[in-house]
Parts: sequence; C-alpha cells; structure tokens
Amino acid sequence: MVDLSVRVGALTLKNPVMPASGCFSHEFGQVFDLGRLARLHRACFDESWSRADLAHLLALPGGFGLVARLFDGGLAGLDGMRGVGFSLCRVVRDECELLSIGVSPAYRRRRVAAALMRSSMERCYEWGARTMFLEVAIDNVSAQRLYEDHGFERVGTRPDYYQRANGARVSAYTMRCDLARSLDAAPAWAMALR
Ligand SMILES: CC(C)(COP(=O)(O)OP(=O)(O)OC[C@H]1O[C@@H](n2cnc3c(N)ncnc32)[C@H](O)[C@@H]1OP(=O)(O)O)[C@@H](O)C(=O)NCCC(=O)NCCS
Repeated sequence: MVDLSVRVGALTLKNPVMPASGCFSHEFGQVFDLGRLARLHRACFDESWSRADLAHLLALPGGFGLVARLFDGGLAGLDGMRGVGFSLCRVVRDECELLSIGVSPAYRRRRVAAALMRSSMERCYEWGARTMFLEVAIDNVSAQRLYEDHGFERVGTRPDYYQRANGARVSAYTMRCDLARSLDAAPAWAMALR
C-alpha cells in the first residue's frame, strides 16, 4: 500500500481531503520531510534541486508536493516510512503542471509512480485544473509510458530543453492531458482498488 503526505506552501497537511481511493491510506500521521524530498530528488535526477529550491516551488501559489510511503503487508521499512517517491505540481486557474516526479531506484516497478500520478491528477482537478501539462526528455521512455498510461499525449517538442550532468543537451516533449477524461478512464487496476 502507498501512503501519502502532502505539503502545500508552508503547511504540512496531516489530514488532507483526498478523494476515496483504495490504494492510499487516509491517515496522514507523518510530517512532510523536506530533507527527504531533496534526497529523493537527488537519487532520481542528475540535476538535483536543493531544499531551498524545493521549498520555493512548494511556496508558489497553487504549488504542492506529495511524498509516497510504502507499506508491504501493513509493515514499512525505514525507507518505506520516510518516503520512496514524490511528485511536485502547480495549479494555475484551470491549468496545472507536473513539475517533477521520481521514485527511489530501489523501489521502482511497484506502481509507486502510478499512485503518485493518479493522486496528483485528482488533487489538481479538485483545485480547479482541467488540463495538465508536463515536459519529458525524448529519451526517457519509461516516464513517457507512465504518462501515456495516464492519458497524456504529445503536443510539442522543446529543443535542447534539459542539460545532463555531462553537459549534453536533450530535447523534451511537451505532453498534455484532459484531467476529467483521464481520471474517468482510469486504468482497470485503479478502478479495482476503489
Ligand atoms: C519514471 C519513474 C518515475 C517510474 O516510477 P515507477 O514507480 O517505477 O513506475 P510504476 O511502477 O508506477 O510504473 C507505472 C508505469 O510506468 C511505465 N514504466 C515505469 N517504469 C518503466 C520502465 N523501466 N520501462 C518501461 N515502462 C516503465 C509502465 O507503463 C508502468 O506500467 P506497468 O507496470 O503496467 O508496465 C521512475 O523510473 C523514475 O523515478 N525515474 C527517474 C526520474 C524520472 O525520469 N522522472 C520523470 C521525469 S519527466
């Protein structure tokens, strides 16, 4: 089971109102750990964001972050308790952006990112967004599949958008999804958990 804690601006919400979904616990007993978020980001990306960068993003109007905790059979190891994945989003009127998403390498392919995507999309929709955008490197096939699974389509290309640690520039696709349509057409596994 994946459990989430939510940070909105300077506040950590221990009991955020989340739509009913069987894959998330609604008991948010843990505080949102900004240091953990920074470590997770560092583990996932060449170009990591500092605690100050992350705090700034979270303080933007409409900004929020989710941290996923992982429980196996009701039990969580230390990593599972501290958080194994995150997402960062921003809602501006009826549009929103997935700014970043990542899962610690040791915990990948366990549907943590899928759970974060679904919850991020639901929260953005609740806050009034109807369309979600994101950028993804053209060589990041695993993330593109994740997004396609959640109803995103390519709508453009941004040349040389990212810079890798070795200095190489990589282009990005811009992807977009209609939140109402994608949430309604949730994958069978998500519906089964409701
Ligand atoms: C992309 C990432 C977030 C996926 O996290 P994850 O928890 O392993 O993903 P999930 O287990 O929830 O997988 C959900 C779907 O994503 C796709 N996917 C995830 N990893 C994949 C891989 N290695 N190869 C192909 N498809 C993959 C699949 O469609 C998968 O569905 P499936 O299990 O039915 O095949 C993770 O690999 C990561 O953190 N990568 C580094 C950071 C990054 O690239 N973030 C995206 C930036 S735009």
